Amino acid sequence: MIIPWLDWASLAIRWLHLAAGIAWIGTSFYFIWLDRSLRVRENLPTGVQGESWSVHGGGFYHVQKYAVAPEALPDDLHWFKYEAYFTWLSGFALLIVLYYFGANTYLIDSTRADLTPTMAIGISVAFLIGSWGLYEALCRSPIGRSTTVLASSVLVLILVSAFLLTQIFSDRAAFLHVGALIGTIMSANVFVVIIPNQKKVVADLLEKKLPDPSLGAHARQRSLHNNYLTLPVLLLMVSAHYPLLFSGGAAWGWLVVGFIIVIGAIVRHFFNTHHTGGRGVQLIWQWPLAIILGLGLIFFIASRHELRFTGQVSDNQAFNIVEQHCVSCHAAHPSNPAFKTAPAGVVLDSLASIRQHRTNIISQAVMSQAMPLGNATRMTPEERSALGQWLQQTAD
Ligand code: HEC
Repeated sequence: MIIPWLDWASLAIRWLHLAAGIAWIGTSFYFIWLDRSLRVRENLPTGVQGESWSVHGGGFYHVQKYAVAPEALPDDLHWFKYEAYFTWLSGFALLIVLYYFGANTYLIDSTRADLTPTMAIGISVAFLIGSWGLYEALCRSPIGRSTTVLASSVLVLILVSAFLLTQIFSDRAAFLHVGALIGTIMSANVFVVIIPNQKKVVADLLEKKLPDPSLGAHARQRSLHNNYLTLPVLLLMVSAHYPLLFSGGAAWGWLVVGFIIVIGAIVRHFFNTHHTGGRGVQLIWQWPLAIILGLGLIFFIASRHELRFTGQVSDNQAFNIVEQHCVSCHAAHPSNPAFKTAPAGVVLDSLASIRQHRTNIISQAVMSQAMPLGNATRMTPEERSALGQWLQQTAD
């Protein structure tokens, strides 16, 4: 009996990760919406900054926000933190199961950096801790006083990390790590700033002291950062399914990350402005700009991949390339011991089957280096474009 425990573990952890992540992002969307939808009305109780009415699930909700804190603490106070903690813990567990146990297959690309699994795992952990440390230092430095300067500096920090990661790891691992380091920053915001600050406010209240308003202000700033990072982090986490995204590889993969972050943040900005009561011109630019940037990215990626036609590529040449670089895994009975069956059900043992997977092969192995995994057989750019050219030829 064969029980692939690692696969089952990965499945269970991924399920948890998705559920926790949805719960967390859901609360982030909800509370930023709530904060933005607060309105000042007459006769609000002392200390109340604004109130909001909503209807859901067969009843009406009436929420009031105390800017710093109410005079007395209610008996039953709800906290929101486990969504964030479990998202991070399950995400890190998934990183271990997939990328650390499978370091040779998924993390390391020996054409980028010839690392041992231990070195690669060390670098991965160092990146997660290091980039969070730098983010925290930026927020606490004088830069943190201006939202715009801080946001631009955090963007530069993420882009530099993306550039370095694409020099070291396989593309899919590099993109996933950018997502993981943003996720780490977001969870640490909850763990290190938001919840501790709220605890201090509660402690002051219990001692009948007036809480420091900056505690709430800092927590609010971090919570807003998290909100703007939600959409980019989601796309980065699923990027492995769309290798076109990392077709820039070590040269301009970082630029694609930049597009993803800016587009995601602009879309969030639309919703945040809308919830604050923004109307008309305040709302007309975000979606068009996001769409223009998205199309810009699509055309940019395509323009970098104009196939250079260098004469006809014969059926034999194409078949040999696939045989040399793909068939050890993509066969009905793979010779690669890591796989019992053809990965993703893709069998590439005949010209017809290669043609059948044409578009997928172009995105996996011609326009990006997603395949062969880890570029273990060191497929050259010439072989990639020859394969692409043959696929193009046979389609015409
Ligand atoms: C070391 C094993 C290995 C080699 C070699 C390999 N692949 Fe793959 N391939 C995989 C695995 C594993 C998957 C499953 C998807 C994943 O985990 O990302 C996959 C998935 C695919 C898919 C489906 C992707 C999808 O999500 O629909 C295509 C197409 C593909 N490979 C093409 C190729 C081509 C073309 C080559 C040769 C240039 C190649 N592969 C070489 C392991 C390999």
